[in-house]
Amino acid sequence: MRVPIIAGNWKMFKTVGEAAGFVREVKGKAEVDGVESVICAPFIHLPVLAEAVKGSSLKLGAQNLHWADSGAYTGEISGVMLQDLGVRYVIIGHSERRAYFAETDETVNAKMHAAFKHGLTPIVCVGEKLEQREAGQTKEVCRIQTGAAFKGLDGAQAAMAVIAYEPIWAIGTGKSSTATDANEVIGYIRQVVEAMFGSAVSAKIRIQYGGSVKPENIREFMRQPEIDGALVGGASLEPGSYIQLVEGAR
Ligand code: 13P
Repeated sequence: MRVPIIAGNWKMFKTVGEAAGFVREVKGKAEVDGVESVICAPFIHLPVLAEAVKGSSLKLGAQNLHWADSGAYTGEISGVMLQDLGVRYVIIGHSERRAYFAETDETVNAKMHAAFKHGLTPIVCVGEKLEQREAGQTKEVCRIQTGAAFKGLDGAQAAMAVIAYEPIWAIGTGKSSTATDANEVIGYIRQVVEAMFGSAVSAKIRIQYGGSVKPENIREFMRQPEIDGALVGGASLEPGSYIQLVEGAR
């Protein structure tokens, strides 16, 4: 049985004070038996949130990491630093990083290795652009991105990872994929994992859907057999909405 995982990707929103207030409001509420609840906050929020989530089952994630342990990389944050804070998850290869910050399949793969080296669970994002979907390339894009992300990892690592299938045209647009469509693509991504690592791994790996998920549609996605949760942007920012998302994943 795969434990569903709801992860809030706050992107570049909230001050540290607002973030701490959010955790105070959701503590004990965005915590439901049988659902993992992860808040992926900006780096500077993480030390304060690490204290704030103590005594709860809420987990913390970062939104990026550098592939090196340390070095002359101005403005970057390493896996060593995240692990030291008690961060458990890290988003890797989000489409916004691929589009605006020159993230490539190669840097995604290097970051996957760095995450495992430092005991962090990657939430690795794959997904097609609108023109790729219209050209019938959705599965091909997901196959290439997934294959590249997991290159050189072993089955035990792959089984622990989380993949987020986020069709780019559905992010922040209010236009979500249909649940059945998302289920089909996610089922295909699971086959890609199976071809790489075997069926024991593909049966274990959790694959989320992301893209305009909200309290009104979370249950529809969760009803699908292949979908193991959601990576949520906009609707994860408000405590009441986040609590409903976690409850909806039960
Ligand atoms: P929205 O939920 O705002 O569409 O964002 C999705 C996303 O990019 C999560 O990583």
